Parts: sequence; structure tokens; C-alpha cells
Amino acid sequence: MRAERGNTFFIHTFGCQMNQADTGIISAFLQAEGYCLATNEADAGIILLNTCAVRENAVDRIEHFLQHLYGQKKRDKKLIVGVAGCIPQYRREEMFSLYPAIDFLAGPDTYRTIPSLVEQVRSGGKLASLEFNSAETYDGVEPVRQSAISAFVPVMRGCNNMCAYCVVPFTRGRERSQPFSSVIKEVRTLAAAGYREMTLLGQNVNSYCDMERGSDFADLLDAVSREAPETRIRFTTSHPKDISASLVKTIAARQNICNSIHLPVQSGSSRMLGLMNRGHSIAEYREKIALIRSILPDVALSTDIIAGFCGEKEEDHQASLELLADIRFDSAYMFFYSTRPGTLAAKTLEDDVPEPVKKRRLQEIIDLQNRISGELFQEAIGTVVEVLAESESRRSSAQLMGRTAGNRAVVFDRECYNPGDLLSVLITAATSATLTGRPAQV
Ligand code: SAH
Ligand code: SF4
Ligand code: F3S
Repeated sequence: MRAERGNTFFIHTFGCQMNQADTGIISAFLQAEGYCLATNEADAGIILLNTCAVRENAVDRIEHFLQHLYGQKKRDKKLIVGVAGCIPQYRREEMFSLYPAIDFLAGPDTYRTIPSLVEQVRSGGKLASLEFNSAETYDGVEPVRQSAISAFVPVMRGCNNMCAYCVVPFTRGRERSQPFSSVIKEVRTLAAAGYREMTLLGQNVNSYCDMERGSDFADLLDAVSREAPETRIRFTTSHPKDISASLVKTIAARQNICNSIHLPVQSGSSRMLGLMNRGHSIAEYREKIALIRSILPDVALSTDIIAGFCGEKEEDHQASLELLADIRFDSAYMFFYSTRPGTLAAKTLEDDVPEPVKKRRLQEIIDLQNRISGELFQEAIGTVVEVLAESESRRSSAQLMGRTAGNRAVVFDRECYNPGDLLSVLITAATSATLTGRPAQV
């Protein structure tokens, strides 16, 4: 019994979709060496945390988790705890002294070494495998997938931008693209397996480049949509300075590419964008939005925004509110700034907005955006939308939860439908986060 448990693993995943995709890659490497994926933490002899370092509260959560695991390790001496993802890559070996629960550390470019790290930990010692390897794309690895309906397809790793607030270039290293032919092969396999939705992933997908073919992201997206014509295609994330007219035209031309773009703005003030090193002004951002809306009038736009970055004055904050009110994004991820050690901002700028001010500004942003999302969602009442059913709703098995092409969550009466079905839904009610409805008679 014990020996069996020792060979089972469980992975807790934090952070962005890239980490979710990587969890599938780590699982594939462990399974290839005979380890089994446990259905819950309590059944596992090896527990891995795939971590996020993007904001301080993300790191705090993982600290708490490691304290809980330390208690567990005291009761179960054979339990192995590994930490993967973005925290170890920049906190490095100091993690061992800070968190005694940890047996091994692995960074985003060293997941191939995880099975051997587990073996070595068993023979005693604590190990770190944290080299950057800008040639590593995990090309050809078939990830273990969580869902049979939706799949993530990483098309690039790393980031070469140096946004002043952001730790990602330090945790994930240099940008590199997956070969065009490998992406297409993966998409073909997923389509043959019946996947209904694929999301192409990268920190900045617009800098995708296959040098040998001379292909950019618009070429890749077009080819992917043709390879899987029955599948919904999404992608994230686009950087405003790099999104091109040819990409927007590709979305318009291909019916199965979702009419939805996530375009993080971070601030409504050009002065702040300069300090953030984003490489564009607000006037340029507005021009990009106008271009997108001229080609895709029904596009659903979403964004990321940070309140209280270094040097932010009340007028900069007001500019962020004005931008949100003008553009009327469908939804937004909203954060208050937290300094990340090692970043450009941590080295050269003063984190001078007091925390209560940051939180007040963030709350104003959230209140405004919720009002806008609520108004936009109310406008959907009475319309018929196409929904991909993803799962049973949390409240009742008589209802399903799915998403529109614009990524709006919809809860609807199940009737004869099942997860994986694409159907028309009549919207009958709405909050600022969810639409409610019933299958439409068509
Ligand atoms: N590559 C993506 C996402 C990066 S991280 C992009 O460029 O858009 C996701 C979001 O976290 C960022 O868009 C930003 O809004 C937020 N973020 C990053 N660092 C942060 C920090 N130090 N404090 C607060 N929010 C941060
Ligand atoms: Fe971070 Fe900027 Fe890269 Fe996005 S584009 S991951 S915000 S450095
Ligand atoms: Fe977090 Fe790393 Fe993603 S820092 S947001 S898990 S790239």
C-alpha cells in the first residue's frame, strides 16, 4: 500500500493559463516514468505546487500552502514536496531555508528533470534544477489534459518585453516559439480527439515567429483555424504595441476564431505607460481599439489594469477611469500594484502610492467596470447566443455552464444537452458576471 502511494503524485496549479498548460507537461513526464496521477492530495506521496510570482498575494498564498505541507510532512516522513513554476525561478535556493517543507525546486525550463529529482530526493537531500534554457519548448510532449472539451496549446514561451512592474521575463526567460509544424500537428491530434475549443497561449502571442517558414502569429492562427474548422479557436495574450491589422483581419475571415480579444492596457495614462515601459501611448491604444472595432464591430474586448503603480497621481487614476468608461470593455482583470523584487520598477522607481490609496483606486476601477459589464450583459437579455457547454453548473446538475464566443459565462437549463455541445441559448437574465438562459428553439 505504502509503495503504491509513494508513486502517486498530485499537482496544485496557481497562476496563469501557461502554468495550467505546464501542469499537463509535468504530469506527462512523471507518468512516462511510471508515476500515477492521484485524484486528490491525500492519496499522493508526491505533492507539487506549480507556482505564480506575479503579485505579492499570489506568493503569500503559496507560503501558506507550504506551511500546511510542512505540518503534513511531520506526520508523513516519506511525503515528497516539490515546487515548480515561477516562484523558484527567481527566489532560487533561498527557498529551502525559507520553507523547510520543500524537497526540490524546478523552473519552467527544467520540467524534464522532475522524475529524476524525485528519485534523487528519495536517496536523500534537497535539490534545485533552475537553469534557463531558451531552446526548451517541450516540443513533441503530449500533455496530460484535464478536459476533453477545451485544450490549451502553448505556441510560445518566455517574454522579451520588460514591462517595469513585471516579473515574468525573470521567471520564464527569453521568448521562443514552438515550430509551426508542431503546433499544427498538435491541433490536428486534438481535433481528431474531438476537442471543441483550443486556446493558443503565449505571454505575447503577437511576437510569435517561425523563422524557417517566415510565419507570424496571423499566419499561424489562420492555419490552426483551417486545420480544426469545427473547433472554437481562442488566443491570449496580445500586446497592444504588436497587435496587427492582419491578425484582426484573420479573425474576421475565419468563422471559427472567436470574436474576442484580450488587450491589456494597464493604465489610462500615457505618462504611466511610459514609466511602465509598455512601448505605446494611450492615443496609440485607442487607435488599435478603433482599428479592431472597424474590422470586427461585434468584438468582445477585455483588458488588465493596474491601480497605484509607482508615481501614479490622482489625474492618472482618473485617466484610467475615463478610458474604461470610453472603451466599455466586456470584462477586466483588475489589480493593485505590488512591487516584485528584481524588476525594473523595484530597482529604479519608488513604490510611493500608499496602500489605502491603491486599494481605494482599485475599488473605484472595479465598481466602474462592474457597472459597465452589468450594462453590457443586460443588453444581451432577449438575444440568442451560441454557447459551448463546458460543465454542469456549480449549483445544479439540471443546469449547464458554458461560454459565448465573446467569453461570457452562461448558465442555462440543461434539457437534452451535455458538456461539449455547441448550442443556441436564449438569454433571459443577467448579472455583471453571468448570463442566464435556456436552449433556444431553432
Ligand atoms: N503577458 C501578459 C500577462 C502578464 S501577467 C500580458 O502582457 O498582458 C498578467 C497581469 O498581471 C498583467 O497584465 C498585469 O496587469 C498584472 N501584473 C503584472 N505584474 C504586476 C504587479 N507587479 N502588480 C500588480 N499587477 C501586476
Ligand atoms: Fe510581463 Fe509585459 Fe511580458 Fe506581459 S508583456 S509578461 S506584462 S513583461
Ligand atoms: Fe504567474 Fe508565472 Fe503566469 S508569474 S502569471 S504563473 S507566467
